Amino acid sequence: MDHRAAPRLHILHLEDSDIDHHLVRRALRDLPGGVALDRVDTLPALRESLVDRRYDVAIVDYRLPGFSAIDAWEAAQRLGVELPPFVLLTSAIGETAAVEAMRLGFADYLLKDDIGKLVRVLERSIEVRQAQRARERADRELAASERRLAELTEHLQSSIEQERAAIAREIHDDIGGALTAVRFDLAWIGRHVDADDAAMQQHVQSATGMLAHALGASQRIMMNLRPPILDQGLVAALSWMGENFSRRTGIALDFQPPRERLALPPAIELAAYRTAQEALTNISKHAEARRVAIELSDGEGVLTLEVSDDGRGLPPEARDKPRAFGLRGLHERARTVGGWLDISNRNGVGTSIILSVPLDDGSHDAPEEPLP
Ligand SMILES: Nc1ncnc2c1ncn2[C@@H]1O[C@H](COP(=O)(O)OP(=O)(O)OP(=O)(O)O)[C@@H](O)[C@H]1O
Ligand SMILES: [Mg+2]
Repeated sequence: MDHRAAPRLHILHLEDSDIDHHLVRRALRDLPGGVALDRVDTLPALRESLVDRRYDVAIVDYRLPGFSAIDAWEAAQRLGVELPPFVLLTSAIGETAAVEAMRLGFADYLLKDDIGKLVRVLERSIEVRQAQRARERADRELAASERRLAELTEHLQSSIEQERAAIAREIHDDIGGALTAVRFDLAWIGRHVDADDAAMQQHVQSATGMLAHALGASQRIMMNLRPPILDQGLVAALSWMGENFSRRTGIALDFQPPRERLALPPAIELAAYRTAQEALTNISKHAEARRVAIELSDGEGVLTLEVSDDGRGLPPEARDKPRAFGLRGLHERARTVGGWLDISNRNGVGTSIILSVPLDDGSHDAPEEPLP
């Protein structure tokens, strides 16, 4: 009965010369943990071995009858299986070949005169490969986790929009409805109150004033929650937003709408609207600008919204402020409609925020999908 433990390493040797194979076997004799060394000397045999077994490393002679190590490499690449690192073992005259092999992706090469270093070269190739695999695994996990985060953000954002729309509806139907009813009643009271009762007249007047204030406030809140102006299209909404901005801040705003009429999916309209909204809020908070331009276009199947100012510019480190969520939210929002956001510091003169969204398919026209 064989009590020996399984060898630590499985090594494939592509070699036609018995003497050279023997040399390699000798060089590997003292490898800790022992090795299983398989030898092949034709391309079909190499392919079969690589498909049948996971080797830790392959040692490849440069010149074989009728083919070279490079042919062997290319044949192996076509197999579509995970390959071990390839180490080229070549005689001194093959140095140019060694350079070519390294360029192709061989893990390492060794001159036959240096066969004493074989164990070290193999160990290193295996270690490098393991580190590479670990890094690939980590990259895959990171990408998966980023994907999950993006999905969560998308879900959160669509929930927030739904929630906002629902609150806006409630304010409109409940509060708006009630306030309108009160306004009619107050008007009725105003008409029927004794014309000589000055105190009563004054109370009615001040109640009417307060009511107008409350109606205005609830309309403003509704506008911010879900801009009904968007029902008239993005161009109308942006132009309304621009006028409001100018009136409130005194900053001149130039809005250039596209020449053609736009027919956009509602989710993209909302993303563009929120982008302009945050960009304008940022300008009034941070930019110290005197002029702002909003440009909307849909050339070459891509919707582009650019909001630029001539203010103090946005320093690169400002994008990563720990408590700043505006720009971060815009990046996420752009992603949820298949687009992206560019922020450019225009040579120290002002800032440009550019949202680009390809308008390829109709997959984004359902912003208010039911919650799962
Ligand atoms: N137009 C701009 N001009 C100059 N600086 C800007 C401009 N827009 C943004 N910034 C800078 O970039 C930072 C990040 O902006 P961001 O919108 O993410 O956060 P915020 O506006 O500070 O906070 P929040 O949007 O979360 O309320 C800002 O704090 C500001 O320093
Ligand atoms: Mg902001």
